[in-house]
Amino acid sequence: MKELPTFLSRRDFLGRSLGTGLVLGAPNILRAATSGGSDKIHVAIVGFGKQAEVLFNCLKNIPGLHFQAVCDISKSKLQRGVGQIRVHQGSAPKGYEDIDEMLAAEKGLDAAIVATPDFWHSPHTVKCLDAGLHVYCEKMMAHTIDAARDMVHAMERSGKLCQIGHQRRSNPRYRYTLEQLIHGKKICGQIVNCNGQWNRSLGASADIGGEKLHKSAIVPTEVLNRYGFKDMHQYMNWRVYRDLSGGPISDLGAHQIDIFNWFLGVAPKRVYATGGNSYFKNREHFDNVMCLFDYDTPHGEVRAFYQVLTTTSYGAGFYESFMGTEASIKISEISHNSIIYREDGAPNWDDLVARGFLSRKAVPAPPPPSADAVASYESAPPEAFDLPGGFNKPAHQPHLENFFEAVRGKATLNCDARHAFESEAPIFWVNPSALSKQPIEFTKEHLHV
Ligand SMILES: NC(=O)c1ccc[n+]([C@@H]2O[C@H](COP(=O)([O-])OP(=O)(O)OC[C@H]3O[C@@H](n4cnc5c(N)ncnc54)[C@H](O)[C@@H]3O)[C@@H](O)[C@H]2O)c1
Repeated sequence: MKELPTFLSRRDFLGRSLGTGLVLGAPNILRAATSGGSDKIHVAIVGFGKQAEVLFNCLKNIPGLHFQAVCDISKSKLQRGVGQIRVHQGSAPKGYEDIDEMLAAEKGLDAAIVATPDFWHSPHTVKCLDAGLHVYCEKMMAHTIDAARDMVHAMERSGKLCQIGHQRRSNPRYRYTLEQLIHGKKICGQIVNCNGQWNRSLGASADIGGEKLHKSAIVPTEVLNRYGFKDMHQYMNWRVYRDLSGGPISDLGAHQIDIFNWFLGVAPKRVYATGGNSYFKNREHFDNVMCLFDYDTPHGEVRAFYQVLTTTSYGAGFYESFMGTEASIKISEISHNSIIYREDGAPNWDDLVARGFLSRKAVPAPPPPSADAVASYESAPPEAFDLPGGFNKPAHQPHLENFFEAVRGKATLNCDARHAFESEAPIFWVNPSALSKQPIEFTKEHLHV
């Protein structure tokens, strides 16, 4: 039978793992958790802010889930969560301000979705795992490397599943690119350089809240203080505070640096970073960071450059590029930002196009050489190709599907806490390198649990 790209021949990649699927104990076979003896998975959502809403809109598409409880320190967010769930499932979940009260009161929970600010991930995830729940926790695992380590230990101690929300790990386009094009067809030749970025405009990076905040959104100061926030500014803008988050390099950079580490299959050996408060002078975290990771891969050395800029959107948003001797792949969660360039002189891809692995991109013809071109030094323009097919689900859905398939014992996790830790560990060292203006050579202590 003619070989077909799996991207076309399978609906998605559920249940497949690429060196990242660890079977953690025996995934629980679900007990009959409802009085009706159904096999519904009983879920709690911890933190019902912006990202939890995005996740909930994906969770609504996954059959067999019952949302039993919601926990949020904000009355308005809690009401919003309870209301949305009531509309979706026809019955309201129980609402809680405090996770300890929720875990003490709610019997029969199977899983928790943790979408609180980063400094709460570790305590919330550890509590849920220790209470016997499987956990899907948003990235970045934690604001400190030790807090992330605690999550791995809790996962392994409890024998429960803990998926970290690096959703690209379950994205069919990413998995197809890695499995079929880079590993299978070796389309890039030798990958020598990587490049990634998240460039965001001032407008998108500005502080949230301020004068315009509606009365109902205000959380009383004593509640804020109880949960580690000094005031409403910290509560709404936790990403810019050192004790609450790792700043832009962890908030945004976590996505792309994870892809470098996943695609290259090894940890970097050192990082050099620089950063500054070029515009947001009063922020505790650098507003712009550039960093370089060195890798020794089985195929040779690789350098990976990454930048997170919060003062410009120039350069087309966010993506990761893998530049090889025969081709370069630029991939992004935004599908139209993804493109593959074949180097002039590399083996031709007519056969791959004919079999549907790739499609030729219609690109305007290059302009005729002009008098000022240094023609003899110029490379011929690379030929551009698209990945085949489309990916029509919301970006987070396949990763959540993978989690619940694993809870049902039908899949292994695509990004469990141990693998997420191994990929995230180098990110924790970018700010220290930028602050000290020194490269950091990674040792076992830097990168291991
Ligand atoms: N994977 C992705 O693409 C992606 C995208 C955006 C955000 N995120 C992650 O999702 C998480 C949440 O981000 P967000 O933008 O929704 O933030 P947010 O501030 O909008 O929401 C956080 C919510 O948690 C609640 N909360 C705070 N402390 C709590 C506590 N102790 N107990 C219970 N509830 C508490 C807040 O009231 C709020 O409703 C972060 O970790 C972020 O990094 C991931």
